This record gives sequence, structure tokens and C-alpha cells, in this order.
Amino acid sequence: MEKSLIIAALFTLCSAILAIPSSSSQTHVQNWAETLTHKEEKITKLHFYFHRLGDKTGVPVVSQANITGPSPTDIGSLFIKDDPLTLGPELSSTQVGYAQGMSATVSIRNAAIVESFTFVFTDGAHNGSTVAVLGSNFLLHEYREMAVVGGSGVFRLARGVVSYRTVFYNISTGDASVEVNLVASHF
Ligand SMILES: *[C@@H]1O[C@H](CO)[C@@H](O)[C@H](O)[C@H]1NC(C)=O
Ligand SMILES: *[C@@H]1O[C@H](CO)[C@@H](O)[C@H](O)[C@H]1NC(C)=O
Ligand SMILES: *[C@@H]1O[C@H](CO)[C@@H](O)[C@H](O)[C@H]1NC(C)=O
Repeated sequence: MEKSLIIAALFTLCSAILAIPSSSSQTHVQNWAETLTHKEEKITKLHFYFHRLGDKTGVPVVSQANITGPSPTDIGSLFIKDDPLTLGPELSSTQVGYAQGMSATVSIRNAAIVESFTFVFTDGAHNGSTVAVLGSNFLLHEYREMAVVGGSGVFRLARGVVSYRTVFYNISTGDASVEVNLVASHF
């Protein structure tokens, strides 16, 4: 069987197996929605770090366009990332989740990427909750901001902003540690 067919078959199988939990979680969301009129919006501030470990946590997924190699800004590359999140600036500090998603180099003028990813929390009070982020990341700016556009679990109906500041970058390996401040309003 062709690989794409196997993947399609697996997807169909998984969807069938997952059908019951997903419909019950929809009911759960509906029940939750009915309590919203009694709830006040609250603000959560989070501070953590993510770590890019060269090509171990970020991989290019499309072959380059002809313009990408010669371009000084690398326009036209698409990457998938799965970067660990930690409480402290060291990779060895307590791990609290992952930043999982996509980045694309999008500018012919600047070192800019557009990112679309999810902070997936796997520890503490936010374990199992996610925050969805979308925005332009101007890599050479000291502070970069992107929009929090939604979330799940604790962060249902979230909106807010996330800021980045690079604390370590090794140009030869691509390894980096980036400080993250996240402010989100949610119910
Ligand atoms: C990319 O470059 C190759 C080799 O020069 C050429 O054959 C191909 O037509 C180019 N593709 C596009 C989309 O311009
Ligand atoms: C986070 O939640 C998962 C799924 O409910 C659970 O298996 C895991 O033990 C939790 N981790 C921590 C550190 O609480
Ligand atoms: C960057 O990585 C290279 C290769 O592992 C290493 O030799 C070098 O010391 C690193 N530089 C910094 C600033 O950590």
C-alpha cells in the first residue's frame, strides 16, 4: 500500500476510535459555555524559556524554492519545530511543555519569520492546556511580539500577547535559548 494511503487509513481509524471522547468533550465545552455569563475574565502571566537544539528540535520540511539559497534572508523555507519549554534559562531546569508548530521565512528584506504554533503545557496547573500563537517574528529585534489567538483547557477563549528575548544563540549550531513572557486574558 502506498504510504499516503496507509496514513489516510490510520487517520480514519483514529478518528473512528476517537469519535466518542471528542463528542463528549464537545458536550463538556457546551456546558462550560453556559457558565460563562457568571464568570469574569482573568489575566494569567507566564514566564518560561524555550530551547532550540539545532536540527534536533527544528526541521525544514519543504525543499527550497530557487530563490531561497541565494536570498540573504532565506525567504521560502518552512520549518516544523518541537522545542522544549523550561522554567529557567538552562535546558536542565524543570521542563513544563513544548512549543510545537511551524515557522516560515517570509521576507525578501528582513530576517523575519511568520510563526504558527502551540505552547503545549505538560506540568503543573496548566498541564494539558494549550495556547495558540500566531504572528511575525523579526529575528534581529531584541524584543519580538506575537499574538496569542486562542487556547484550550485553562486557556479557552484566550487572547493576549507573547514576547521573546534571546538569551543565548550559537550561530554555528543554531542552538538558542529564548525568554518568553506570555500575558493572556481568558475565563
Ligand atoms: C529552478 O531552477 C531550475 C534549475 O535552474 C530550473 O530548471 C527550474 O525551472 C527553476 N524553477 C522555477 C520555479 O523557476
Ligand atoms: C500531566 O497530565 C497527564 C495527562 O493527564 C498525566 O499523565 C501526567 O502525569 C501529568 N503530569 C504532571 C507532571 O502532572
Ligand atoms: C557553539 O557550538 C560549537 C560547536 O558545538 C562550540 O564549539 C562552541 O563553543 C559553541 N559556542 C558557544 C558560544 O557556546
